Amino acid sequence: LSLCEPVTVFVCTTCRHPEDAPEAQPRAGARLAATLASSEGVEIREVECLANCKRGPSVAMTRPGGWSYVFGGLAPTDGVAVLEGARLLSLSADGLMPWRGRPEPLKRGLIARIPPIPGASA
Ligand code: FES
Repeated sequence: LSLCEPVTVFVCTTCRHPEDAPEAQPRAGARLAATLASSEGVEIREVECLANCKRGPSVAMTRPGGWSYVFGGLAPTDGVAVLEGARLLSLSADGLMPWRGRPEPLKRGLIARIPPIPGASA
C-alpha cells in the first residue's frame, strides 16, 4: 500500500441526535454534513441512512486497499474529528486507522470496521 490514499467520507444527513426533538430540522446529520467540505484527498459524500440510525449521527469512511469504518454517536460539532480520522486513514501505511492519535469521538463512536475488498488494489 502506498501512503496518502484518497479517502471517501460518507455522512448520513438523515440521522437524528438523541437529544434533539424528534422533528427538529435540520437533522443532526445534516448539521454535521454542513461543517464538512471535500478537500484534496478527502471526498465528502452525503448519503441517506447508513443503517445505524439508533446510534446516529453516523459517518462511514473508506480508502482504496484499506479498511472501511462506521462511526456513530457523533455530534453535529464533530466535523474536525471526522476530518482528522480521514487524514489518519489516508496516511496509514497498513490501511488501518491508527488508534493512537485518533480523535475521541472516533474512539467511543466506533461501530464497525470492514477489511479491504478482496481483489481490489490500492
Ligand atoms: S438515518 Fe442515519 S444511519 Fe439511518
